[in-house]
Amino acid sequence: MWPYPKVVAHRGGGRLAPENTLAGLRCGLAYGFRAVEFDVMLARDGVPVVVHDPYLGRTIPGSGNVFDYDAAELVTMDAGSWFAPRFKGEPVPLYTQFVDACRAHGAWMNVEIKPAPGVEEETGRVVATLTQAMFGLQIAMDDPLQVPLFSSFSTVALEAARLAAPGIARALLVDDPPEDWLEQARKLDAVAIHANHKKLTRPFARQVREAGLGLFCYTVNDPVRARELLGWGVDALCTDRIDIIGADFAG
Ligand code: G3P
Ligand code: MG
Repeated sequence: MWPYPKVVAHRGGGRLAPENTLAGLRCGLAYGFRAVEFDVMLARDGVPVVVHDPYLGRTIPGSGNVFDYDAAELVTMDAGSWFAPRFKGEPVPLYTQFVDACRAHGAWMNVEIKPAPGVEEETGRVVATLTQAMFGLQIAMDDPLQVPLFSSFSTVALEAARLAAPGIARALLVDDPPEDWLEQARKLDAVAIHANHKKLTRPFARQVREAGLGLFCYTVNDPVRARELLGWGVDALCTDRIDIIGADFAG
């Protein structure tokens, strides 16, 4: 059975606030969400930061890669102005800051490990090790709602996370599901498949369920589609439209 919330705010506040920022998280919280997905990758000095793109230019002004900057530089950068002037100066959060803010508000976390190319193993290991250190006691208590669920498109990152923190559950993210999706999931000892709903078919949904895995869909912004997916037995979904697919949408 899926032990996690059924509706999750994508990147913090969906499309109502700058993604992957504390302002975005506050927005999700204000809309009643106590479940949030966000993306994490490493800065040059190996410190995990919350950001989606591996390069600057879209949400962070500037050029080059996130991996070209130390975390201390990234946290001074403006990750809010691109969205709206009122968010000017909204910083790139450290992973630890974002986790602390979620915990302070009782928000469950789906931590998407999004490694830059070439540092997949290191990213999975560092994020998992740090998370284990932050949550150690609660992991021992084995309450799935109290600890994050890792997900990643990178099986290398997930395997590194498994080795570093086997007690933190993992989910395999897929776009077009590869032929060996089940073998991959089993090897990683994953609890769920996180699937692109645009590529999801009803037979695939059934196979995931029959394999005993959870099924989470990203990123569902149409309430009609959300209902359909839930009718197919999809366990959970994340959404950018936190205004029309609310935290209690799935009942
Ligand atoms: O984790 C679900 C979803 O966030 C995956 O895609 O690109 O929005 O991070 P993306
Ligand atoms: Mg993501």
